[in-house]
Amino acid sequence: MNDPFELFSRYLRQRQELGEAPWVFDTPAPGETVAAASRSRTPSRPDPAGAHNAGGDAGGEPGSRLPAAEPATTSQSRAPSPRGETDAGEARPKKVDWRRGAPPIPPQGIVVPPPAEDLFTADPLADKTLEEIAALVRECTRCRLCKQRTNAVPGEGPPDARLVVIGEGPGAVEDETGRPFVGRAGELLTEILAAIDLPRERVFICNIVKCRPPENRKPQPDEIEACVPYLYRQLEIIRPAVILAMGGTAAETLLNTRQPLAGLRNRVHQFRGIPVIVTYHPAALLRNPNWKKPTWDDVRIARQLLDARG
Ligand code: URA
Ligand code: URA
Repeated sequence: MNDPFELFSRYLRQRQELGEAPWVFDTPAPGETVAAASRSRTPSRPDPAGAHNAGGDAGGEPGSRLPAAEPATTSQSRAPSPRGETDAGEARPKKVDWRRGAPPIPPQGIVVPPPAEDLFTADPLADKTLEEIAALVRECTRCRLCKQRTNAVPGEGPPDARLVVIGEGPGAVEDETGRPFVGRAGELLTEILAAIDLPRERVFICNIVKCRPPENRKPQPDEIEACVPYLYRQLEIIRPAVILAMGGTAAETLLNTRQPLAGLRNRVHQFRGIPVIVTYHPAALLRNPNWKKPTWDDVRIARQLLDARG
């Protein structure tokens, strides 16, 4: 099952099978031209590099390999049309209401309390702003990852974001651009956020480590230890209503656990008073489409928590 073409067509098939997926292909609305419909569905082509890629998404040049999530313009007056192809065989992603069939908010999980105040060693980042943290990250030489980086990736988003998404570490495109989640996994993240009515621009997006690990290997414990104070200060400044931890590295680091990711889902954990939802990493979803449905459920739980917290 390593053939990227087979992997990718299985991925597309599963998307279509997921009835709730916002990118389910639908017939164009009356009056909408087929040309307009097909524009939003640039044929996806398999990416041999990305297909087996782990943490980051090296090899993924930015581009629309995934059908772009479309803004919610579905008119109410339109009769619900059966999913499927149009006469011309064209279709477009359909926006659905994320609330429909969303799972209930799960019980509490791991609670990570705020650190005890240390009267002797003051946190050197304690008075820094988000901009100052970003500047420090770009110059950082605290671990070996600085040697091979092109750009450090501090993270981006509004300082008053209500959701913070945390991944593992920059991939190739992130290293090139200095921006988080802009490769193939990033495109998927952007779609997922749009599907729960959160434009990416309203979310603060960052990683556990701010520099790309060579070949997208997992960050090592000492690299995480060196880097994570930047993240903790970012979280302290932003104080989001919810944290979405994507993938094992983010979950294990934040919650200080070795529990496998599957066991951390379906709980509302707490990091220093902030609710944490754990889900699969978007790069993992590209490799294993079976995780898409659980991820969709997880992000809808996160979305409900945002609503619940006003
Ligand atoms: N819709 C899905 O079906 N899965 C996701 O991960 C996001 C949106
Ligand atoms: N994978 C991550 O974990 N983070 C990124 O920024 C991109 C890919």
